Amino acid sequence: MTSSDRSSAPDRVPSPEDTSCCGGCGPTRRTFLERGALIGAAGVAAVGLSGCTDAIRNEQNAPSHHVGGTPTRAIETAELPVGNSASVQLRGRILLIHRSAEQTVHAYSAVCTHQGCTVGLGERQGEPTFACPCHGSHFDVTTGVPYGGPARKPLTEFTAAVDGDWITVTL
Ligand code: FES
Repeated sequence: MTSSDRSSAPDRVPSPEDTSCCGGCGPTRRTFLERGALIGAAGVAAVGLSGCTDAIRNEQNAPSHHVGGTPTRAIETAELPVGNSASVQLRGRILLIHRSAEQTVHAYSAVCTHQGCTVGLGERQGEPTFACPCHGSHFDVTTGVPYGGPARKPLTEFTAAVDGDWITVTL
């Protein structure tokens, strides 16, 4: 497991579409975990909910999508190998990024759609997941759809792309 910079960033970062936020915005920072890694309580929650049903996943509609206009460098491609996820703080937002193929990446707001806690990286049954430490919701890393917890809405999706040496997110 490789991880870096688990700093004391606020639990919630305000943004125009994340109205439940109450924290301030800190300086730009990145966190990165290889696939299979757990983050503290999020990891504990992931393990504790391993028996939850996946039925909720199938009930969800397509994720809501952030409408932005500027592709912004989020993380270098070398820092995010295929199959890995990262939590990146970018322009006042915490974004969850997953690279599912060489040229395919997915990005989501880390604001939990249940009650606004910050969703982190986790693992469930050997697969990467986005996990909320507050009440145990998990989100699919390639769709943002919740499963195994109280959240019912998908994480807000951002347009992401592999652009040479960088993964960009349209903000
Ligand atoms: S705030 Fe995330 S599960 Fe409740």
